[in-house]
Amino acid sequence: MDSVVGREVLKFPDLETMSLAAAEEAAGLINLAIKEKGRCTLTLAGGSIPRRLYQLLADEYSSIPWSKVYLFWGDERYLPPDHKDSNFNMAYKTLISRVQIPEDNIYRIPTETETPEETALRYEEMLRGFFNLSLTEDKAFPVMDLILLGLGGDGHTASLFPKSPAIMEAKRWVVSTFAPPSYISPYRITLTLPVINNAAAIFFLVSGTGKDKVLKSILEDPKGAGRRFPAGMVKPRGRLVWFIDETALR
Ligand code: 6PG
Repeated sequence: MDSVVGREVLKFPDLETMSLAAAEEAAGLINLAIKEKGRCTLTLAGGSIPRRLYQLLADEYSSIPWSKVYLFWGDERYLPPDHKDSNFNMAYKTLISRVQIPEDNIYRIPTETETPEETALRYEEMLRGFFNLSLTEDKAFPVMDLILLGLGGDGHTASLFPKSPAIMEAKRWVVSTFAPPSYISPYRITLTLPVINNAAAIFFLVSGTGKDKVLKSILEDPKGAGRRFPAGMVKPRGRLVWFIDETALR
């Protein structure tokens, strides 16, 4: 068991075995949420690592009643939804286009607006409408059944980058922010930490090179990592599971 109470750390020899295990766990959680509440609110991660997980959920878990699954995104690049680098486009190709999910169940981050800030404001309105929490209830945050997250080599997660003011946001559910030059698309929209940490369950999916230092810090020095890295600040009231491809630790 991991040294941090309530945190599960699961290591796998490679991306495929990690994705298989994460798909099994996610499918079980999705079906349980539907059994208990009649629906599952699933927030997808962007980047490249979740691709295989999404393909497995689409192709290997026909037991999932997708008409009862509601999809959201943890973050998005400020790009058209059909852009090759759009997180929505990645999920569309690997999951959405392969399952029978009603269009009304898909809460895509609307990047067609004039500015990233307008996208953030619009997305928060969409979320508040779905969770039926008006703007006046500014203390309440939605409870997502499962949020999937990735980890960047600088310790970012979603589009919460180190030293970004977005990390300190304590009221808004969604903000616009910037990615450092080394990352795709400088303009981003992201869920904030209060929303992420209000989730019933969070799965981190970590694979790939250049993440070993941050990952070891988060695993071995969670307090220190919690001060330095946005991914280390993810401490949900619910379940936290790290799915790690051991190549990421090398
Ligand atoms: C994004 C993602 C981002 C991603 C990490 C890890 O929009 O880029 O949301 O947070 O999860 O950068 O990316 P990989 O999964 O490709 O390693």
